[in-house]
Amino acid sequence: MLDFGSQYSHLICRRIRDFSVRAELVPYDTPAARLAEMAPRGIVLSGGPASVYDDGAPRPDPAVFDAGVPILGICYGHQVIVDRFGGAVKRANREYGSSVLSVAGGGGAGLLSGLGGPVRAWMSHGDEAERVPDGFEVIGRTDSAAAAAIADAGRSVYGIQFHPEVAHTEKGDTILRNFAVGICGARPEWTMEAFVDEAVAKLSRAGGRVLCGISGGVDSTVAAALLHRAVGERLVCVFVDNGLLREGERAEVEAALGASGLGLPVEYVDASARFLARLAGVSDPERKRLAIGEEFAAVFAEFAEANGPFRSLAQGTLYPDVIESGVSGGPAAVIKSHHNVGGLPDWLGLDVVEPLRDLYKDEVRRVAGILGVPDSLAWRHPFPGPGLAVRIIGEVTAEKLAVCRRSSRIVEDELRRAGLYGSVWQAYAAVGDDRAVGVVGDERSHGRIVMVRIVDSVDAMTADWTRVPSEVLEAISNRITNEVEGVAWVTYAVSSKPPATIEPQ
Ligand code: XMP
Repeated sequence: MLDFGSQYSHLICRRIRDFSVRAELVPYDTPAARLAEMAPRGIVLSGGPASVYDDGAPRPDPAVFDAGVPILGICYGHQVIVDRFGGAVKRANREYGSSVLSVAGGGGAGLLSGLGGPVRAWMSHGDEAERVPDGFEVIGRTDSAAAAAIADAGRSVYGIQFHPEVAHTEKGDTILRNFAVGICGARPEWTMEAFVDEAVAKLSRAGGRVLCGISGGVDSTVAAALLHRAVGERLVCVFVDNGLLREGERAEVEAALGASGLGLPVEYVDASARFLARLAGVSDPERKRLAIGEEFAAVFAEFAEANGPFRSLAQGTLYPDVIESGVSGGPAAVIKSHHNVGGLPDWLGLDVVEPLRDLYKDEVRRVAGILGVPDSLAWRHPFPGPGLAVRIIGEVTAEKLAVCRRSSRIVEDELRRAGLYGSVWQAYAAVGDDRAVGVVGDERSHGRIVMVRIVDSVDAMTADWTRVPSEVLEAISNRITNEVEGVAWVTYAVSSKPPATIEPQ
């Protein structure tokens, strides 16, 4: 899939992978020769914010249209096709939201088959096709778009104005499946079992010893388990205590890994003093993240030097980390520099191995099941590599760390007590520098504000705040204000992602 920068690009990949066909997102200007090496069965042109008539509008390598495989354009990709084949695109009224799609004409080699009558289709566009290119027929219309879906079955080129990947489009997955399986002939064989076999075969081909950073979270544990299966004794895992961990975390991870039956060789390094010293006086979120990334790299380099030689450094980077760090090569914006993405300097002298770089979290959890990673590790809440530093707004100080750590434990404990821990994506407490007035006994207090955040998500790309029963929130608030020194208020964060993110920094 060529990525023209739509915020939904990654979702198209997701939907296609959901029916076991492998889909990969690559920059829109990837040369056709490079695409040919990947041997795709079909090419999708994603949506994007541009207009095809803008100066410098992103366009694919023209040779992509001669690749000899079916092509489907979605939204901006649809307009690229209309323009490329000699039709015309016009500025229309901006249209966002639902419309009703009816199938027309000959159905375009089955792209719209199986819809069973008109369906809701979600639109989000500024431009639309005004004149359909010669050789194309209109196969779908909506009230506002006369050419909502077009096809040239002879050349196997298709365009749809609406977004089949969003949940608001009914049977959008049927349309994607019609394209990928029906028209392109892709076989739905890309299961996580196949992924494990392929990854183990590939990882075992590289020689040398591998150092793997492990945090006890699902990503790094699965990466380590996969490597262990591939390279056996040549793997050494290192757990770095960066002083930003949750309460009792190191001991819990040590016990869980020890009891996991995975047999991973893990070394523990206490680097808390140097991380905290490095963070003193740093309050900008990106600077904090970069400082932590660099410190991790330095700790790994020293460990490798002392215990080497190692050929490579492995980590559990996932696909969303890559997308949000803005290093996928696409035109998407940098949201956050994830601590482990793009932060490893050349001086490290180690190849970086990221076996899960193409996967989303729910896919990693399926891989965990296949590798026998116990649920107690696979279903721990995600915890960011920069740890509590991204839950402390502004400078990380010992006092704020203590408030954040203790309050987070209370949030987790109360959710467990209510039987809700396993059903939410993440739950924690954050703290900043704002203060609010309270009363303690008969005295005025002026204490910190702790923000509780509990969210539901499938893959961390989007998230919504969890509608936690008010009694649970009440218990959390009471315990935090009573048990955590210096806290006057507790608030609950009710912003979804987007426009907010999951972590505040
Ligand atoms: P945001 O805050 O971007 O977080 O909505 C999305 C998911 O990623 C986690 N996160 C990170 N994980 N390194 C990580 O390993 C990081 O630098 C990092 N930043 C955020 C976050 O906890 C959430 O699950």
